[in-house]
Amino acid sequence: MADAAATTQLAGIILDRIRTRGDITFASFMESALYEPGLGYYTSAGRKVGAEGDFYTSMNVHESFGRLIAREICRFWELLGSPSSFTIAEAGAGGGQLALDILDGISQFSQAAYGSLTYRLVEKEPSLKEVQAARLARHSGHLAWSTPEELASGALKFTGCVISNELFDAMPVHIVEMTEDGLQEVYVTADADGFRERLAAPSTPELAQYLQKFQVRLMPGQRGEINLNAPAWIASAAATLERGFVLTIDYGFLAEELYTPQRKNGTLLCYHRHSTSEDPYQLVGEQDITTHINFSQLMEAGKDVGLKTVWYGEQYRFLLGVGLMEELVRLEAQAKTEQESLKHRLALKKLMLPEGGMGDTFKVLIQAKGVENPQLLCMRKWGMGL
Ligand SMILES: C[S@@+](CC[C@H](N)C(=O)[O-])C[C@H]1O[C@@H](n2cnc3c(N)ncnc32)[C@H](O)[C@@H]1O
Repeated sequence: MADAAATTQLAGIILDRIRTRGDITFASFMESALYEPGLGYYTSAGRKVGAEGDFYTSMNVHESFGRLIAREICRFWELLGSPSSFTIAEAGAGGGQLALDILDGISQFSQAAYGSLTYRLVEKEPSLKEVQAARLARHSGHLAWSTPEELASGALKFTGCVISNELFDAMPVHIVEMTEDGLQEVYVTADADGFRERLAAPSTPELAQYLQKFQVRLMPGQRGEINLNAPAWIASAAATLERGFVLTIDYGFLAEELYTPQRKNGTLLCYHRHSTSEDPYQLVGEQDITTHINFSQLMEAGKDVGLKTVWYGEQYRFLLGVGLMEELVRLEAQAKTEQESLKHRLALKKLMLPEGGMGDTFKVLIQAKGVENPQLLCMRKWGMGL
């Protein structure tokens, strides 16, 4: 485990806090490591995503990712009866790159949809608003901002969609472990050398209830991560939507695949400058900490609040359905050199490929409220026109 003196200011603060107030759950440690005001990974200065950051997300790979999502959003707008007021709320909007590609796309695909549009950015780190506003300047008449708390309150109401890319994987999780003595939770404690883990009785009965709900049987020694905040988030998205869609893109699995014995140590992974580690106690506040998400949990939470799952599948299937091949043909026709053409092909391949790419591990979930049997673009049979 990491030595406090050898690591970051934030590590020192959390260690002091533990020494004075007592051990904390892993979820509480992760909340501080990622979101401690001014010092957490997402709440401190510095580029996180992209070549100069610590990891790539799909939108950094190619603008087509956002353009293709824009196509599906135009379909949402049509299915909702082409309303004169339509809102896209993006949660975890980061620096606004996905918003830019989506807004550019919609403005090209449908002036009527674009005319009806408000794009509402929701981001936990408030200082990113300035970055977003600058990046999105050419769409300034269509922008609005809300805090996560405003979204969570359910006070916002609109027709449209709530979208996110890699939001849930950045939410704090509890970690449980099955032992000879039954289910235990991972707590973070501090000794003279720094952080240590210790197992003790779960901090809340919700953890055992969760495992029961998803029929998860952890083997002795097996760990699993549990996000207890996701259902409330889905409930607030549902409360916000008068009618519309929730589109979630993230890496993860259904419960039965997520908690298999092969994933004995769970799925927690840390990213720093494009390399990975499984030690969340080093570089505290300077490395990202993520876990794969349980899509069954989002689907079940949706059912409880009137959100029906209308599509779920791998990112590559979604992208093909919404027009990736057509997008590639367009890009190749526009390319001025073979090198430019190759660049587009490689980027789009990365979004699709299972091994080493983002096509398979990443999934897309679309939930609908107040729309019966929507015929979405991603449902299109391959080979049929858009
Ligand atoms: C992994 S990053 C993804 C950023 C961007 N969507 C992308 O794909 O590059 C997760 C982002 O979600 C933000 N975030 C975490 N919890 C949030 C919440 N409840 N509401 C809004 N933003 C949140 C973080 O601050 C961070 O910017």
